[in-house]
Amino acid sequence: MLINVHIHQDRCILSLDSSGTSLHRRGYRQAMGAAPLKETLAAALLNMTNWDASLPFLDPLCGSGTLPIEASLKALNIAPGLFRKKFAFESFPDFDLELWQQLLTEAQNSKISELKSPIYGSDRDPNVLTQARGNAQRCGIAHQIKFTQTELSQIEAPADCGVLICNPPYGERLGNSQELGTLYKTLGDIFKQRFKGWTAFVLTGNKELAKKVGLRASHRIPVYNSSLACTLLKYELY
Ligand SMILES: C[S@@+](CC[C@H](N)C(=O)[O-])C[C@H]1O[C@@H](n2cnc3c(N)ncnc32)[C@H](O)[C@@H]1O
Repeated sequence: MLINVHIHQDRCILSLDSSGTSLHRRGYRQAMGAAPLKETLAAALLNMTNWDASLPFLDPLCGSGTLPIEASLKALNIAPGLFRKKFAFESFPDFDLELWQQLLTEAQNSKISELKSPIYGSDRDPNVLTQARGNAQRCGIAHQIKFTQTELSQIEAPADCGVLICNPPYGERLGNSQELGTLYKTLGDIFKQRFKGWTAFVLTGNKELAKKVGLRASHRIPVYNSSLACTLLKYELY
């Protein structure tokens, strides 16, 4: 059992760790690309966008598939904690195994079997797509997500309206700035030319790159990606 002690000036806070390993480790992601989003951040981004599962969803730079997988879990009402092998509270002296089994059964029975609208993920890199499919498989939802290998410049909107969310590289871990400038410009171009009727969100930690999108963001939400100050930019496309 882990007990955390925080002492600040004359105050001491004792807390019991009921989770164990970090909660973003849902347990389904064994494989990940070079700069994956934490599962919990991906889920929080989906909430911030107000995406509702009746609308098609696309991440055209999906990497190891975190956003499409979290979108599918949400749409199918699958409790993300179901994939964890163990929570620390299971070792508490008053842990009630029977109650826990009951809650797990309740969560299993609350799953929805079919998506209301399709969920898509694409990337140009076949290796990360293999990882994405493997991660989706471990959640039992591989058949629900349409993953395709597509270069961003070739992408077409799969429906008349929907929500697109992506986190392009922003130079901290991946890519050189000239290439990245072209990538952000391509995003803006395809939003304008091929995604009329959609709402697009781009998470970036680089203001200069964000300008290259060349469209006016209708909303900017400050978000921390670990310790990196980022912004979730919203573009209404019509
Ligand atoms: C920061 S990662 C996305 C990580 C992803 N959200 C995850 O959780 O794994 C950016 C992704 O964009 C992809 N990418 C970069 N340039 C691309 C392009 N021109 N066309 C398609 N995919 C591209 C990379 O292969 C990489 O997987």
